[in-house]
Amino acid sequence: MYRSLRSLAITVGIFASTTRAQTNFSVANFKGVLAAGSGVLESLRPTSNLSFDYSPSDFYHYRDGAGQYHTGDLTLRYRALGESDWTDADTAAIRQNGTDGQASTTGLLTTDLINQLPGLAKGIKVTRSWSQQDGDLTLSFTIDNTGAESIELGSVGIPIVFNNIFSNRTAVEVTQRCSLIDPYIGLGAGYVQVTALSGTGPNLVITPLNQDSKFEAWRFLPEPDDTFLGYQIQTYEGNYAWQVYSLAYAENEWNTTEPWNPPSSTILASGGNITLGLRFSVADQVQDIDTVLSTAGLPVTVGVPGYVIPQDLPARLFVNSSHAINNITVEPAGALTLTSGGTYGESWTGYDISASTSAFGRARVTLTYADDRIQTVHYWIAHSSPTVLSELGDFLTNEQWYTNTSDPFGRGNSVITYDRSTNDYVLQDNRTWIAGVSDEGGAGSFLAAGMKQAVAPAASEVAKLETMVRDVVWRTLQISEGNDTYAVRRSIFYYQPDLVPDYIYSPEFNWTAVPGETWNKSEAYMTWRTYDYVHVSALYWSLYRAGRTVPGILTQRNAIWYLLQAYHTVHYALSNATDGTPLTDYANVGLMGEWVWGELLSDLYAENYTMEAAEMEQTMRGRQQIWASEADPYGSEMAWDSTGEEGVYFWSAYFNDTATTRKTVNAIRGYMPTVPHWGWNGNARRYWDFLYAGSIQLARIERQIHHYGSGLNALPILADYRASADPQGLDALYQLRVGYGGNSGPLTNIDAEGFGSMAFHSYPDTMHWDAYSGDYGPNFLGHVLGAATYLVNHPIFGYVSFGGKVSSTNNSTLIIVEPRDSVRQRIFVAPTSLYVTIDAGTIENFSYDIVSKEVMVNISSGRSANSTMDGYEAGSTLRAVMKWEQTGGGEHVTKMGLQTALESGLGGYLVGLSTTEASCVLFTAC
Ligand SMILES: *[C@@H]1O[C@H](CO)[C@@H](O)[C@H](O)[C@H]1NC(C)=O
Ligand SMILES: *[C@@H]1O[C@H](CO)[C@@H](O)[C@H](O)[C@H]1NC(C)=O
Ligand SMILES: *[C@@H]1O[C@H](CO)[C@@H](O)[C@H](O)[C@H]1NC(C)=O
Ligand SMILES: *[C@@H]1O[C@H](CO)[C@@H](O)[C@H](O)[C@H]1NC(C)=O
Ligand SMILES: *[C@@H]1O[C@H](CO)[C@@H](O)[C@H](O)[C@H]1NC(C)=O
Ligand SMILES: *[C@@H]1O[C@H](CO)[C@@H](O)[C@H](O)[C@H]1NC(C)=O
Ligand SMILES: *[C@@H]1O[C@H](CO)[C@@H](O)[C@H](O)[C@H]1NC(C)=O
Repeated sequence: MYRSLRSLAITVGIFASTTRAQTNFSVANFKGVLAAGSGVLESLRPTSNLSFDYSPSDFYHYRDGAGQYHTGDLTLRYRALGESDWTDADTAAIRQNGTDGQASTTGLLTTDLINQLPGLAKGIKVTRSWSQQDGDLTLSFTIDNTGAESIELGSVGIPIVFNNIFSNRTAVEVTQRCSLIDPYIGLGAGYVQVTALSGTGPNLVITPLNQDSKFEAWRFLPEPDDTFLGYQIQTYEGNYAWQVYSLAYAENEWNTTEPWNPPSSTILASGGNITLGLRFSVADQVQDIDTVLSTAGLPVTVGVPGYVIPQDLPARLFVNSSHAINNITVEPAGALTLTSGGTYGESWTGYDISASTSAFGRARVTLTYADDRIQTVHYWIAHSSPTVLSELGDFLTNEQWYTNTSDPFGRGNSVITYDRSTNDYVLQDNRTWIAGVSDEGGAGSFLAAGMKQAVAPAASEVAKLETMVRDVVWRTLQISEGNDTYAVRRSIFYYQPDLVPDYIYSPEFNWTAVPGETWNKSEAYMTWRTYDYVHVSALYWSLYRAGRTVPGILTQRNAIWYLLQAYHTVHYALSNATDGTPLTDYANVGLMGEWVWGELLSDLYAENYTMEAAEMEQTMRGRQQIWASEADPYGSEMAWDSTGEEGVYFWSAYFNDTATTRKTVNAIRGYMPTVPHWGWNGNARRYWDFLYAGSIQLARIERQIHHYGSGLNALPILADYRASADPQGLDALYQLRVGYGGNSGPLTNIDAEGFGSMAFHSYPDTMHWDAYSGDYGPNFLGHVLGAATYLVNHPIFGYVSFGGKVSSTNNSTLIIVEPRDSVRQRIFVAPTSLYVTIDAGTIENFSYDIVSKEVMVNISSGRSANSTMDGYEAGSTLRAVMKWEQTGGGEHVTKMGLQTALESGLGGYLVGLSTTEASCVLFTAC
């Protein structure tokens, strides 16, 4: 890069500091505009692609008023040393009387912010400098204490504002012009990535300019919502500030929460000063971000499999730094144990990490480097994943099991929405669907309970779900006779006092505030919301799978009845009326969770329902052809969304439309980052569903941590990873990190007793899981369908597993992996691109011979012989259906063949299961 100071080509409208005009600047890597009067960033374009603007410059003139933040603004809280009250100063508070500042040869504009910070105490002087370093743009603030007294800075916030405004833009414009901003709140190694929504870059990486400028907190910036663009709405999430210090907030607004990092302040003695700032660099592709961080002097951290650690999963952490790590601490003490795990390449250090079986939830690892830089890595410790599954199943079918068969709305018996803050059912809500067993917000709980049975059936849970189908789904939630048989209602709870005169609607809710959202009976009973068909069909399919894999577990209907119910439900959802109009309104967009329809289709074929399968396939082909013809085939109920991609990818891959699968993966890359923090790693952007599925107490627009975007978008990301031509290349492995992070996310939503929350509130004054179960179901669906263990020979770290425990034999040509993912029925052996799945039992371990390339898979009936899970007693599972394919690896991959003689059946190979000995399935190179 450019080590020497390069002269800047600066075009300045008018140089005099008292006059106000826009300033155009140009450094090696960027061209941009600083706004007249305020000197804030109005436009920032990468030299590599001048048609792309990271800033919403087209909307700047709507957003140049008081209280509207831009990059280049500064927010402060300070007090005289020893006082308790903080004073605020904020450059966005007023926009009058600003001055442009001076352009000089050493920087772009340097501005004394005295006019922008009119309330600032006399003894404090703040100077802002736009400058450059090695061709990158830098922004710094020097705060001088020119007074006689010491002052304490308790908050320094640097707003980071780029083009995340979707308002008044078409979907195509959003994809082409907008970016999303994600933080890694990691102190001295922290950074922000501004990812172009196209997923193909160019992206911006924002790093601390010096060690003082640590990334301590990420603060949402309230702004007036008085322009046509809106603010903190579905098309404009809003803006945040990089907090270098946050003590002043921790003592006030945030005093009930446990922050990501210890809150700090700094003291400026009389005559003292401090310079804090950020550097803006370009990463052409998302997978280049690590390189950009290294170039900016930051340590780079790669967690395997990520930052969510089930107690029985050994994890690894790799750190690339030119400075040694002098000290590592863990909080809570002992929650994680890090032991040295070797060095790799020129500058990578490895650690083996294990979680304490007595630890649960958040854990922070603090690394101190030889140059005094301090980094925090944020982990989540979960129970061992089979335990998580059984705890969740138990909670859903006991605590959330609603048995009042006299309920006037017909909700008994069902798995119903739950409020963890009151530990009670949610039987009323003016967002009627939440209490109405439909929509994601109301169906989420039965969907999760169903999906659990698909992979780990338990007799008592299956029995309750069969009862729910009998009493609620096939009685009220679905229409079960007449022309609209199989139609799914939007809600079975409704607000219509005249129809239920003895029922008391709670005065806690305003039942008439938003008429379109509080439904009367006829509105609630409408059947056009295509999304709702996924939940019901997934429940049926799960019961089919449970019945198929555990003979005798079904007691009310047989497995095929459930399979065909699932089929007919999908068929209705995607059919037209006799006049040709679609029966439902969203049949031609990707639907949350429809990945399960792929399983359904393959099971229809497996069970020889060939006509039904062919019909369903034809319908899907029609939908896929529509998507293939669209520039932006990711429409939904919302103006912008991160939900359609999963379905679009599935069927595009199914019909071999690589142009659309590529575009779809790119779209997801635009909103799904990987960073060393359990909350943001693989956390696909979601920020409005607290309004529609969360607790009424916190129903607001807010960045959600591990809402269902994580589990669902991980499905295509991981499938695309497995299909890559070089699954052991760094680019593909970047995608595995994103995907595995997304797949692990839904584990964090489940609390220590098994309650699954819809998402975590990320605002620093909240920082807890939403009290409602709400729409957790689709997230768990993604988790279950995507859970797998991966073995890769990483080009730097060697053999590592995402989701498994690796060991090797003495002669070490044999790598042995024990799956520790939640399901333990899917493995991917990257060196041969071999993907093996079973539908029942457990893959106890598999081995890969690095010389012969032989892969041996050991399959048992699973859940040990003395399993405590009811209905899963020893011997209850007789066989598994094993499928395998080489999903990627391009032309150069060694072709593998199945050596074990196995009978074919149900679309795969039948493997006998026993609790006493594992069945071996051998694949060899051929
Ligand atoms: C702007 O400057 C004018 C003239 O100096 C002054 O009267 C006015 O109060 C200033 N406005 C603000 C908001 O500081
Ligand atoms: C909103 O978008 C439309 C269509 O592009 C455009 O004509 C209109 O000027 C925009 N409105 C504003 C206020 O920018
Ligand atoms: C928390 O901060 C609020 C707002 O500043 C204040 O009213 C309250 O007393 C504080 N509570 C504690 C326990 O410090
Ligand atoms: C800031 O403080 C340093 C000493 O720490 C001093 O050398 C420098 O001149 C000061 N800068 C300003 C602008 O006051
Ligand atoms: C490591 O850091 C902790 C916390 O700052 C400190 O208590 C401890 O003394 C340090 N240990 C070493 C070996 O530097
Ligand atoms: C059912 O559909 C048939 C044929 O379209 C129609 O004649 C009949 O009226 C419908 N019945 C009801 C109850 O809507
Ligand atoms: C629901 O009731 C709450 C509490 O009265 C109210 O604030 C909210 O606006 C209502 N929401 C809807 C969708 O009616």
